[in-house]
Amino acid sequence: MEHHDVLVIGAGAAGMMCAIEAGKRGRSVLVVDHAKAPGEKIRISGGGRCNFTNLGATHLNFLSANPKFCVSALRRYRPRDFIALVERHGVAYHEKTLGQLFCDGSARQIVDLLLAEMRAAGVQLRLETRVEGVTKTEGGFEVALSSGKVACASLVVASGGKSIPKMGATGLGYDIARQFGLGVVDTRPALVPLTFEPATLARLSPLSGIGLDAVVSHGKTKFREGMLFTHRGLSGPSILQISSYWREGDEIRVDMAPGVDALAALKAARTATPRQAVATVLSTLLPRRVAQLIADEDAPDKGNIADCSDKVLGRLAGAVNAWTVKPAGSEGYRTAEVTLGGVDTDALDSRTLEAKAVAGLYFIGEVVDVTGWLGGYNFQWAWASGWSAGQSV
Ligand code: FDA
Repeated sequence: MEHHDVLVIGAGAAGMMCAIEAGKRGRSVLVVDHAKAPGEKIRISGGGRCNFTNLGATHLNFLSANPKFCVSALRRYRPRDFIALVERHGVAYHEKTLGQLFCDGSARQIVDLLLAEMRAAGVQLRLETRVEGVTKTEGGFEVALSSGKVACASLVVASGGKSIPKMGATGLGYDIARQFGLGVVDTRPALVPLTFEPATLARLSPLSGIGLDAVVSHGKTKFREGMLFTHRGLSGPSILQISSYWREGDEIRVDMAPGVDALAALKAARTATPRQAVATVLSTLLPRRVAQLIADEDAPDKGNIADCSDKVLGRLAGAVNAWTVKPAGSEGYRTAEVTLGGVDTDALDSRTLEAKAVAGLYFIGEVVDVTGWLGGYNFQWAWASGWSAGQSV
């Protein structure tokens, strides 16, 4: 039987980082993946430019049943550590916004960088290889692969979440966790566009394709970023962010003119330009089609702004600064960037990511119940958790 010190399941961001670190420590490492190519999600990430980290990443940017679980790994491997690696490989990058770092060129540079590091560390990579079963042995694990049986002392599960099944996402990591008695926190699509039921969609259909700056809130959680009306519902960064907090039946609130007191602006316009049409006044605050829809719905019988009572202006301002809407659902795993939930952090050592009750078994990256905001946080978690396990395997 083939023997390795470490077998890593999943050649994604977390698995490759773990393999590199383990290889550098002199471990013999095999990484297996059922996909044809490694790091496919890295390749398509950040619109092809890979938002590979966020300068401000702390545990406050993550969702988890235990919000403090990710602190240790995030402190052990920081954004500056990955930036140093990127710089060592001469990959040019820039900060786009809000601390988000992207490659100037292509996300493929990040995949190539990881592959170069793996080669330098003597890591073996085997693609198009299925995992058929895992058994615990005295010295570690025996894993049945489609290429044959492999014995290893440490088994690292880095098989990611369920998002984008078309790209090879599976629930294998959760199945292995359950097999060894580890808990799995319920999973759901996150960082995902939200959808409306048909009646709302029909009402809002004239707005499809319009983007604007917005503050989107769910309870006390709010994000100010772009928002996009789509032919299914709402998308854009602020919506993806809030989707991780939203649950079926909940409303979200949207301020479509952040920083502007719409009521004060409308009252001022009523005095200064009383003969302007309501939609024209609103279009100083909002894209024209949005302004028209609000005017049609909330002041249907009012021609000019002068015709609007304080009550009507209040209604119009509410639609601008505090539009409340109940999404019907989300686009699901088909388009979700990540999976919320996953392997219960209670079962893992936060410093090493090793299962507390199963020596030698590790879970890293997205398969764990640690989910980042949009903005490079998820890759930082993949690097940090992979690096931390790599020091221990
Ligand atoms: P990842 O999913 O990367 O890797 C898991 C690997 O395991 C895959 O190669 C898969 O083929 C393999 N695998 C799965 N099941 C298997 C099985 N049964 N047998 C063998 N192999 C198996 N994040 C960010 O920080 N910045 C960004 O710009 C983006 N952009 C982005 C865009 C899009 C479209 C998506 C879908 C996601 C992002 N993300 C992101 C999220 C980011 O891609 C994600 O969090 C990380 O890739 C997670 O890394 P992992 O290594 O944990 O899993």
